[in-house]
Amino acid sequence: MNQKAQLPPIPKENKFKQALSLGIGIWDYFDEKQKELGDTYTLTFPGQGPMVWTSDPKMIQDILKLQRHQIDGSLVQLPFDLGESNLVFANNKEHENARKLVIPQFAGNILKKRADMMAKITNEHIDSWSVGDTFDAPRLIGDITMDITCATLFDLHSGERKDRYKELMLAWIMEANSDINFTLASFVGATRFRRFLNKQYMRRSRQGKMGNGKKGLLPWKRGVDLKVQLATLLREDIRDIRARDDETESHTLSFLARTRDPDGNLLDEEKVISEVYGLMIGGHETSAATTAWLMIWMLQKPEVYKKMRDEVVAFIQQEGEHDPLKTSELPYVTACLNESQRITPSAPGFIRWLREDTQIGDWLIPGGTAVLPNIYSTHRRKDIYGEDALEYKPERWITKTGGQKSFKPNQFMPFGGGRRACVGMGQAKQQMRIIFSEFARRVDFTSEFVGTTGMPKSRLVGGQVEPKDGVPVTVTAIREEDYGRQASVSAA
Ligand code: HEM
Repeated sequence: MNQKAQLPPIPKENKFKQALSLGIGIWDYFDEKQKELGDTYTLTFPGQGPMVWTSDPKMIQDILKLQRHQIDGSLVQLPFDLGESNLVFANNKEHENARKLVIPQFAGNILKKRADMMAKITNEHIDSWSVGDTFDAPRLIGDITMDITCATLFDLHSGERKDRYKELMLAWIMEANSDINFTLASFVGATRFRRFLNKQYMRRSRQGKMGNGKKGLLPWKRGVDLKVQLATLLREDIRDIRARDDETESHTLSFLARTRDPDGNLLDEEKVISEVYGLMIGGHETSAATTAWLMIWMLQKPEVYKKMRDEVVAFIQQEGEHDPLKTSELPYVTACLNESQRITPSAPGFIRWLREDTQIGDWLIPGGTAVLPNIYSTHRRKDIYGEDALEYKPERWITKTGGQKSFKPNQFMPFGGGRRACVGMGQAKQQMRIIFSEFARRVDFTSEFVGTTGMPKSRLVGGQVEPKDGVPVTVTAIREEDYGRQASVSAA
């Protein structure tokens, strides 16, 4: 074991080249560095501390075990102004309390109740399409998940207020995820940049200055306008909810607005707003990017998509009813998503900034360094997934008896892990499986990806890896809403 704290190998190219390579082709760069430097290496970007990326399961296990006091969440390099008390940036007790506040919203019994709504929204979208319509899959699915978000956060399903929320949320998320935001944050440091944005937002909110929501000379102006406008809607709703104090309401905003601290006080309005912003953005680009890759696999492997449809239809016929929750939990549907998240994960890694020198595997890593499990490279390890690790094979997730197979937390981690694991994982998996099981049941698509094998070039959007030029798809068939429920169907 090393006694003196030191960094694992650093690539020979300079900091700018490292940052650029990650931005324009992150997976190729990971493959290249793995070959050159092994499982564990240190990337050094301009203006920030060193980052140790590892695909060594032993090191990942140690990272997953890190305690709250060992890491500094405020250093997470996301340039989104969610408020510094948001759980993503909070530390120690504040982080623990913020998770306790939010996690009940994703409890199993609550998610079960949301399954019918998720299927209904997906089917409303499908019913609005015609054969020949063309979409960009990540944006299309982002639109569906945004409707689901309006329903879960605000219990809004249609009408002017829902449209206004949806429009503002989408626009703010796009601004927050924009390349210019990430670039500015990388120049001045993400924490400083977030605090600057938050100051602007608080000042403008106090003055009641909504702005026109248009681009201006200052690159952050539109994002601040949109946040002030959106927060104004939220403040109105929080006050209405508190005035009604209706315990039967189960949507997230109502739950947060009615929550009291141990002394019986309602949470600060800005705290409620801050957590809502986190939940709004946490699930958007992540779900869009994840399903973009899944859609490409389904287009490249029509036999897999058909098998998914056959499984869903056979199950509906066997049950005599269509329960979206149960169909979304079917082994093959689950396996298709797992396999896509394994081989083409949207999050390249997850980050822990160490406060002090810390033993991670055989390395004593210096304090002030970030350690990141490399999700992409770990998910492709042959010593975990076998000689066919680079192939898309949903069957690897199914046991000999037809049950679901799982891998260990340090082997499969598309949602991170440990004390800061994704809080929305249950909701995300459920909604993606419902969307795809409904697509498989009712819709056929074609695309330039049909008949291809390799994956397209990628780019980073809001920290997520997405196909560089999107995933254009054209609808070639739409089956009836009750397809599969009829006594017998001849699978198309
Ligand atoms: C496919 C969809 C999603 C993916 C791939 C994803 C991935 C991740 C990852 C990798 C992390 C970092 C975990 C870590 O550091 O260990 C994370 C954190 C987080 N995610 Fe997700 N996520 C998804 C959907 C969602 C949804 C739907 C929500 C909320 C509705 C959400 C809310 C959050 C929050 C609040 C955190 C921060 C947790 C903390 O710092 O304690 N995510 N997510």
